[in-house]
Amino acid sequence: MSQVQPRLQVRDLHTRLLQGTGALPLVRGVSFDLYDGQTLALVGESGSGKSLTALTLMRLLARNARWQCTGQALLRDGAGQTHDLLTVSAEHMRQLRGNRVAMIFQEPMTCLNPVLPVGEQIAESVRLHRGLDRSAARAQALRALEQVEIPAARQRLDEYPHQLSGGMRQRVMIAMAMVCEPQVLIADEPTTALDVTIQAQILQLMSRLQQQTGMSMLFITHNLGVVAHHAERVAVMYAGQVVEQAGVAQLFAQPAHPYTQGLLACLPGRARQLAKQTGRAVPLQDISGQAPAMHALGPGCSFAPRCRASLAVCTTAPPPWLGEGTHRRLCHLEGPP
Ligand SMILES: Nc1ncnc2c1ncn2[C@@H]1O[C@H](COP(=O)(O)OP(=O)(O)O)[C@@H](O)[C@H]1O
Ligand SMILES: [Mg+2]
Repeated sequence: MSQVQPRLQVRDLHTRLLQGTGALPLVRGVSFDLYDGQTLALVGESGSGKSLTALTLMRLLARNARWQCTGQALLRDGAGQTHDLLTVSAEHMRQLRGNRVAMIFQEPMTCLNPVLPVGEQIAESVRLHRGLDRSAARAQALRALEQVEIPAARQRLDEYPHQLSGGMRQRVMIAMAMVCEPQVLIADEPTTALDVTIQAQILQLMSRLQQQTGMSMLFITHNLGVVAHHAERVAVMYAGQVVEQAGVAQLFAQPAHPYTQGLLACLPGRARQLAKQTGRAVPLQDISGQAPAMHALGPGCSFAPRCRASLAVCTTAPPPWLGEGTHRRLCHLEGPP
């Protein structure tokens, strides 16, 4: 049997914001693998670097700032060729983006054009990547809208984003992301802005599309219920680093990093059980203490100032990776969790 290879292999990803003569490290050595048909959830409190990680991979970091990105993000295409998303030319990246790797955002209006009918916006991507003519591209756009279960899809083709509800807009964005059948989909809190019922529908839709296409997903979410129900693996981010990675069941049963333990402890017992069993909405709560200032990180573990189990070494030396196999944590504390 041939060994399953990751679709996307991210290694030691660093994103620094250049300011004057200095560089502020905001993503600090993130590594993970995405496999076909699987979802990796990326969780962590606000400001931990989840969106920057996604935007770095997509090469969509804000243009009004200067960035320095290092590391590797190797995308394997259908022919087994690899493309490093960080170093391919801008032109090559335009061919990959929307085609092999696509992203959906929390707020659809940030990437929908308000003055263009949604059908044209979806068709644009197929024309660009598949070289289809107008009418063939329009037919594809219609299929994409039907695939995301938009009622009266034919009529919607000619409507503008403002004519659609929030849930519909999110469906349009998913249709746009999916129309070229990307191998990797990055979803950055795609349902946070929606009400709970619509959230559940959109998540179901995404799961179904994933089953149909076999794409892999990086799912950024604040919702541990979503993690439990929709992901196979979890990476927990803190202060720009992944501090724990595990299978979903492992993480819920035996969180090993004190930060993850804190996150799960914030969930009331019943809510936690519910999250595991039903995937119902259970928002991530912030643990006590302040998020670290990224410009003033010490030499030790960035979580040490908030950690209840902190030792002397935690403030003086960077933590090592501990744990075995698929469950690992960035922590000085030895022994079972
Ligand atoms: N365009 C930007 N310019 C300057 N700093 C930014 C920019 N985008 C994000 N940051 C900073 O980078 C850190 C991580 O942000 P982000 O990745 O958006 O966090 P998350 O998505 O986990 O909430 C935060 O401290 C944030 O203030
Ligand atoms: Mg974010």
